[in-house]
Amino acid sequence: MITLALAKGRLQCAALARLAEGGVTVSPEQLDSRRLVLEEATGEYRFLLVKPGDVPIYVEHGVAQAGVCGRDILLEYEPDVYEPLDLDFGFCRLAVAGRTDTAWQAANRLSKLRVATKYPRVTQKHFQRRATPVDIIPLTGSVELAAVLGLADCIVDIVETGRTLDENGLTILETIAPVSARCIVNRAAFHLERPRIARLLERLAPTSAPASAPTA
Ligand code: PRP
Repeated sequence: MITLALAKGRLQCAALARLAEGGVTVSPEQLDSRRLVLEEATGEYRFLLVKPGDVPIYVEHGVAQAGVCGRDILLEYEPDVYEPLDLDFGFCRLAVAGRTDTAWQAANRLSKLRVATKYPRVTQKHFQRRATPVDIIPLTGSVELAAVLGLADCIVDIVETGRTLDENGLTILETIAPVSARCIVNRAAFHLERPRIARLLERLAPTSAPASAPTA
């Protein structure tokens, strides 16, 4: 049996929908339940439902042979796994966002920028490239509030529709990286379980983009 770690929420639904197209289905009872391990009818796969940031941990440690998470998570945690497949869903971007007034420009010019984020490593690297000194304020959710209430000069977060920024009076100041859902594979499992992993990748692949050779 192949164990696949899925980022709970939107990506979980999209990944299961993609697998269902190939006949891999999970019963509605399981989907409606609070179970954290789901099994599909043929017994070929089981699915672990975990927080997005935990997907690479389960895969790196080999508890799951493969996983589905956003590229944002891979950029932040840089796990030692193969990343053979862009799943072509879960599109969003990592961006710097802030208020539309002059606070950003003033802070950007004069002193260390205070940046609130769930992505401290991505943030540090981005501002290092711009040679801008930053104080990172790590948060775990509703990051936009930090910019609205002045806890930070700006935020680094994912933006999908842009609605959260818009409805809180914030705007994108810089785009850092485009994001989509990726399938990642444990390095040992990729070689030891090659036929079964190849079959999984075929089932997950968007019809227009077959799985490529693994990349780091
Ligand atoms: C994510 C992200 C933004 C929002 C962006 O939050 O952190 O807040 O979605 O989506 P939008 O551009 O479509 O409005 P999530 O729903 O994961 O919750 P969180 O803020 O608690 O992390």
